[in-house]
Amino acid sequence: MNRELLENEELKTIDSAYTELQKMREVIDDSLKSLDILARNTKDLHLVMKPVSLIVPLSKVIEQFRLEAEIRFFNNSKPFLSLLDISRIEEVLINLFTNSIEAVPHSRRPAIDVKLNYEDRWSILSVEDNGIGIQEDFIDKVFYPFESTKTRINNWGFGLSYSFKIISAHGGKIIAENRSQGGARITIMLPVLSL
Ligand SMILES: Nc1ncnc2c1ncn2[C@@H]1O[C@H](COP(=O)(O)OP(=O)(O)O)[C@@H](O)[C@H]1O
Ligand SMILES: [Mg+2]
Repeated sequence: MNRELLENEELKTIDSAYTELQKMREVIDDSLKSLDILARNTKDLHLVMKPVSLIVPLSKVIEQFRLEAEIRFFNNSKPFLSLLDISRIEEVLINLFTNSIEAVPHSRRPAIDVKLNYEDRWSILSVEDNGIGIQEDFIDKVFYPFESTKTRINNWGFGLSYSFKIISAHGGKIIAENRSQGGARITIMLPVLSL
């Protein structure tokens, strides 16, 4: 092998190693960005509360997901006011809808029933889906951070623990269960302002 050829081969090796390094760098950058968002979102949980009806963020997020899922909205409540951080509540709802869609096998179209009720000074919102349901041995872990049954790289297992934190900070409750007819049901309860 003459010297020039050897140099050419070496250059190619260096070139492909460089390309691989660039790819690794992109993956690490993405991961660091996600960690950064995660840390910022949880460290100083500062809520900007406004008296508003849960129907406001809910209607917005339902419209956002209309193309991705068959959404039925059963509104059995009046527009009672709660003290809400609208953008945080929107994030929670986006997490729930995304989980529902991710739980439905590709062979079916996602169907989500959203039910809004009022009971005893609580707004009670449930999001029900036609997915595979929550794994029975996992149901106690769904609100723990970094617990996920999914294999996709951007499923950090963070959506429900974040939602738990946000709803608790609003003085509310969040419950995860399976429906008897299949699929999951996540229920959120938020206190309503005194009239
Ligand atoms: N609607 C749902 N149907 C079935 N399983 C669900 C649903 N929502 C949440 N889960 C389960 O809870 C886990 C945690 O959810 P989440 O905190 O949003 O993390 P991620 O979606 O990144 O896995 C999911 O991995 C899944 O196992
Ligand atoms: Mg999720």
